[in-house]
Amino acid sequence: MSLPEKGRDIEELLAEISRLKQDDLPVRGGKVTAYVYDTGRPEVHEAAARAYFEMLEVNTLDPTAFPSVVEMEKQVVGAVAELLGGGSGIFTSGGTESIMLAVKAARDARPVGGRPRMAVPVTAHPAFHKAAHYLGVAVDAVPVDPVTFRASVAAVEEAITEDTVLVVASAPSYPQGVVDPVAEIAAAASARGVLCHVDACVGGWLLPWLREAGARVPPFDLSVPGVTSLSCDLHKFGYSPKGASVVLFADPALRRKAYFASASWPGYTVINATVQSSKSAGPLGGAWATFQALGREGYLELGRATLAAARRLREGVAGIPGLRVLGDPESALVAFGSDEVDVFVLSDEARKRGWFLQPQLSYAGIPANIHITVTGVTLRGVEAMLEVIAESAEAARERGPAALPEGLVDLVAGLDLDALDDAAFGELAAAVGVDLGGSGQPEMAVVNAVLDALPADRREAVLIRFLSVIYA
Ligand SMILES: Cc1ncc(COP(=O)(O)O)c(C=O)c1O
Repeated sequence: MSLPEKGRDIEELLAEISRLKQDDLPVRGGKVTAYVYDTGRPEVHEAAARAYFEMLEVNTLDPTAFPSVVEMEKQVVGAVAELLGGGSGIFTSGGTESIMLAVKAARDARPVGGRPRMAVPVTAHPAFHKAAHYLGVAVDAVPVDPVTFRASVAAVEEAITEDTVLVVASAPSYPQGVVDPVAEIAAAASARGVLCHVDACVGGWLLPWLREAGARVPPFDLSVPGVTSLSCDLHKFGYSPKGASVVLFADPALRRKAYFASASWPGYTVINATVQSSKSAGPLGGAWATFQALGREGYLELGRATLAAARRLREGVAGIPGLRVLGDPESALVAFGSDEVDVFVLSDEARKRGWFLQPQLSYAGIPANIHITVTGVTLRGVEAMLEVIAESAEAARERGPAALPEGLVDLVAGLDLDALDDAAFGELAAAVGVDLGGSGQPEMAVVNAVLDALPADRREAVLIRFLSVIYA
């Protein structure tokens, strides 16, 4: 791509975008069970898109210049606080940014003698590792129960040191969709004078509706004693366009620790609530409009449909020979594993049938598995989804596990990935059946099997190399 000499016509551009998107997974319809959240109500997404567009060019950088931002943000954050036990919040671009701000606030609220540390269950989202990496905080990994996949309270207690600034619980954790024992973890943190963040990025705008629809959901929000901050993504079960999350702080003084101001230059004064500085108010407009278009009633109806679909899915998967649901999820995230079929092959088989089922690598004693995020639209197609899972499991059984070329894992494990040039990495990928320049529906079972056989730090190194090659 080079910049065209002359400006081009909008219709031509839109046609080109359609072409560029032709191999993308579909964002609507429920056949993609990760990344996208579909209400099944096109008019709601249309309202969000129009409001997004209306706010597109408004810059949230200076709230005094664009008071619409302050008003909309107060309404959106206010609605989230009302549902989740109060507090003062910030509208952010996503779960990662919400978590980043919670970690920064904790670090700055409680200066410690040594390097600040946080206790993070192994099932918590990597956003905590990212925040730790960016903010100079060390992570103490907390094991989870091998049967329930919930964080061990005793292990949290053990992980807390003099330098711990934050303890984390998930509601729910993404991998198995289970809610950590928030009340016990928050109490343990509070007893040691440590702050506690609940990552409700997935569950914040889901669990309350599921509970109202009849699910057993333990207390997890800011009303729980000892919980000092909470993240809730609106671009997940809030069904807003991407770029929408809220981080709540129990105490406004803690929220101030998330803010950043700088007057150390001769330009305009900088006061930011978020990591980003200049940014579009489009996502805020989209989130605001989605709330307005669905209302309480809409979210509750979606919650009912989601609960029914999640229950049917769990029951259906448990009835498929060789598959088992991991844990006892309270949420709408369902993970299943197998001792009999290769789940990575199963995922490829489902992809051939037009469904994306997300593979998850084994980690910390938790076996490799398939993850499904059930959303408002899933119920309509849940029987078809179960049929595809059953057929794909059967096909995976017939094919047998992904065959790894002899010595490949050892080769990758020992590679100096920084010394390898892009062409050599491309050849290596081709050896496991991946065409890095290709598109469409890649067979990923061998790649996943190789990654699965490597320790986490090697997986990370390979992934970084992979990303730099596809952007070469
Ligand atoms: C539990 C949990 N926390 C945080 C995140 C990070 O959210 P985002 O991708 O919006 O940054 C995710 C994303 O899936 C998540 O599942």
